[in-house]
Amino acid sequence: MVAHTTSKPWDRRSWRAFPIKQAPIYRDTTTLESTEAELASYPPLVFAGEARMLKARFAQAQQGKAFLLQGGDCAESFSQFSGSGIRDLFKLIIQMGAILTFAGSCPIIKVGRMAGQFAKPRSADFEEVNGASLPSYRGDIINALAFDNDAREPSPKRMLQAYHQSSATLNLLRAFASGGLADLNEVHRWNLDFVKSNPLGQKYEKLAESITQALGFMSACGIDSNNTPTLKTTEFYTSHEALLLNYEEQLVRQDSLSGKWYDCSAHMLWIGERTRDLDGAHLEFLRGVENPVGVKIGPNATKDEILGICDILNPHNEPGRLNLIVRMGADLIEKNFPKLLESVHREGRAILWSCDPMHGNTIKASNGYKTRAFDRILSEVKSFFAIHKACGSIAGGIHLEMTGADVTECVGGSQAITEANLASCYSTQCDPRLNATQAIELAFLVAEILKERNVDSGSFIA
Ligand code: PEP
Ligand code: CO
Repeated sequence: MVAHTTSKPWDRRSWRAFPIKQAPIYRDTTTLESTEAELASYPPLVFAGEARMLKARFAQAQQGKAFLLQGGDCAESFSQFSGSGIRDLFKLIIQMGAILTFAGSCPIIKVGRMAGQFAKPRSADFEEVNGASLPSYRGDIINALAFDNDAREPSPKRMLQAYHQSSATLNLLRAFASGGLADLNEVHRWNLDFVKSNPLGQKYEKLAESITQALGFMSACGIDSNNTPTLKTTEFYTSHEALLLNYEEQLVRQDSLSGKWYDCSAHMLWIGERTRDLDGAHLEFLRGVENPVGVKIGPNATKDEILGICDILNPHNEPGRLNLIVRMGADLIEKNFPKLLESVHREGRAILWSCDPMHGNTIKASNGYKTRAFDRILSEVKSFFAIHKACGSIAGGIHLEMTGADVTECVGGSQAITEANLASCYSTQCDPRLNATQAIELAFLVAEILKERNVDSGSFIA
């Protein structure tokens, strides 16, 4: 088997010579090939210059001069595709961004898990229902959720629908980002409404009031969104798991400015916990593209694995290139992360560390629903910050599964969603997401932590 070393030639197809996990088996290879060729002829979805800009932002976050907020659906859906869904998630990310910007006194890098987040790794290849066994659902880009034979057959043409949906999503996101929906005064008004209507809202009142005062002060000084465009526009980036390499390969393009290769399906791509083998196809694919890239780090990751990932994906130790997304679970992060972080930190590798407090905290409720408890999510985030502080390293971001809709998928939070409530609005295609209220609450709580960190470091006067 070919071992990928950085001196070996890379091309967009070189991953095909490596062992691959979580890949669908397409029976109709003729349609697969014609679909791949069609996709390869389509325009790129993002521009290389944007990916370079995001890399520069990541480099700032790695030094604690910015903070990464990444979030969106576990899996985007063909059937739930709508303008209002995109708008509500965009608004939620912008609202959280405003809260965190103020508390952290630093830019918040806003990255949606959207416009391409369609392929899902699964723990089991087959799903059993009432004694019947069918191939698992692997995301709308591969097969369909319905529990029947035809639905579960991988269909290459789904890649085209995923491309077009991503393209329409990006179009709307770009319009929202520059067309006025991100106006800071409006965004803050939404946050004030949230504080007013939230049962535990008084907890967040002080911070919200400080933001009101800051905006009032700026306006008194003559700085408002009419004369200062940055107050009404925002940078907004997209990302997804680079799981379905048949798709990603077709969106790889050579940048005409730098001559380098970019995966133009999104600004940032990551590899999941199940496909990050050092000798596997996914690392081989991502090592050759210049985008900022991420890798999920579960509770059993070792120092050698992490250094191996750094060697393969970031051989020149370029700042902003590599985001390690820790997802150990509220208990295991306490147990396993401190030693691991100490040992990796000593090596001086360029790493943007972020926290995914979702994937290590998934449980099955007594009524069968997959869920996550808000308290456990919060606890993992707090531990992540505390462990970094103790190590003298930088907690640079957060990675969440969330939706702008008022779903009941995670238990807890100020709405006190119980297991019995889960059935009332459970619409995820895959993992349970924070709803808008839970996500904003989490943002206020993370804001408190960022504020304390600033006070500790003397960069902010409380
Ligand atoms: C995900 O982010 O949806 C996911 C599957 O994560 P992980 O690879 O960390 O399990
Ligand atoms: Co998920």
